[in-house]
Amino acid sequence: MTILPIITLPDPVLRKKAIPVEQVDEALRRLADDMLATMYDAPGIGLAAPQVGISRRLVVLDAAGDEEAKQPLVLINPEILKLGPEKRVYEEGCLSIPDVKVEIERPSTLTVRFLDRDGKRQELAAEGLLATAIQHEVDHLDGRLIIDFLSRLKRDIIVRRFRKQIKPGNSD
Ligand code: NI
Repeated sequence: MTILPIITLPDPVLRKKAIPVEQVDEALRRLADDMLATMYDAPGIGLAAPQVGISRRLVVLDAAGDEEAKQPLVLINPEILKLGPEKRVYEEGCLSIPDVKVEIERPSTLTVRFLDRDGKRQELAAEGLLATAIQHEVDHLDGRLIIDFLSRLKRDIIVRRFRKQIKPGNSD
């Protein structure tokens, strides 16, 4: 497995709407496995394909606690079918926006439909951290980032900071 480079703000691929996966084949499974390895290495609890520069509807997740066994999840073409009525606030980070945390209120339960690693149609009811993470990752597939939950002013300040970081001669 390969650790892939993670794309960061303000790369435009993060803002593109990703297109559906058409075929769940060996190449896609390899990409999913590489994404899982990249996510565990980072470490993070979720990673969407656009974050490794691939604008396809594929995300990987593992919201298991530190003491628990790994629970890797591969969601291909995920579709959130239902969001529960209760909300939950969680301070979210994003591997594509290092050192930024945003408090976001989202529904605390959901049902998601997707194709699994074998291309089989599945439905999953999620709650708590996993439900938050699924919404965060599906947002990535639509070009939506955690900074979009901030005021325009705060968002602009963060984007400007990241733009400065990639200017030549300012790479340290
Ligand atoms: Ni993210």
